[in-house]
Amino acid sequence: MPDRAPREIRVLADLPAIFRAAADLFADTAESAVQARSMFSVALAGGSTPKGLYTLLASDESFSQRIPWANTHVFFGDERCVPPDHADSNYRMARESLLSRVAIPAENIHRMRGEDPDPAAAAASYERELRSALRTAPDAFPRIDLVLLGMGADGHTASLFPGTPAPAERKLAVTAAFVPKLNASRLSLTLPTLNAARAVAFLAAGADKAETLAGVLGPAEPPQHFPARSVAPADGRLTWLVDAAAAKLLPRPG
Ligand code: 6PG
Repeated sequence: MPDRAPREIRVLADLPAIFRAAADLFADTAESAVQARSMFSVALAGGSTPKGLYTLLASDESFSQRIPWANTHVFFGDERCVPPDHADSNYRMARESLLSRVAIPAENIHRMRGEDPDPAAAAASYERELRSALRTAPDAFPRIDLVLLGMGADGHTASLFPGTPAPAERKLAVTAAFVPKLNASRLSLTLPTLNAARAVAFLAAGADKAETLAGVLGPAEPPQHFPARSVAPADGRLTWLVDAAAAKLLPRPG
């Protein structure tokens, strides 16, 4: 594992406990970012797990009232190459569970254009938008305050899938890749962008993730390559929020 800032692994009782811990982290990070830089940037994770977090952030005033939505800029960690109203769209899931229910200015929602027939062009356009919004220097990678991520049972995160070129991308901040196992293209932030973040929080739950999680978080380099294992912010906080089922093969602390 590359050298890195400290990482924290929190084993929570169940998925609702993961959502509350993640919502707290989200609100804390948002408050500190706006205090320090008058802006909070967050990249939302896709898939199904985070939906419960987004619903909680929108519905529970102990969180939604703490978050300075007017100063919040929402990005996406990845997107499926489908229109924004498609059932598979990460944007649609986030819009329905969170973005349509909080007072975030429309111009602060930075959607990846999954509908673009040219995914590489969509990735390049998103990189320009991300760099511009975060005022990134040309020789640096965009530094997002909080990146939320999930992990697939194959060790992918965002849309960095094993066996595709995306996990190895080190020049682009946003990339497009065809994923053979899905027979579909995806847009994704690349590892340099994930590792430039001030904070990364993974949400992972369920017994089906236990073996992979042990490979990703374990001391020994597993035989197969897990892109999630390469997420190690160089100057940022890494937090894993997992449930007992996903953590069952992790070494006991202490
Ligand atoms: C996506 C996600 C993807 C997801 C993992 C885990 O677009 O599908 O970005 O990386 O986080 O597949 O998904 P679950 O949390 O639904 O298991």
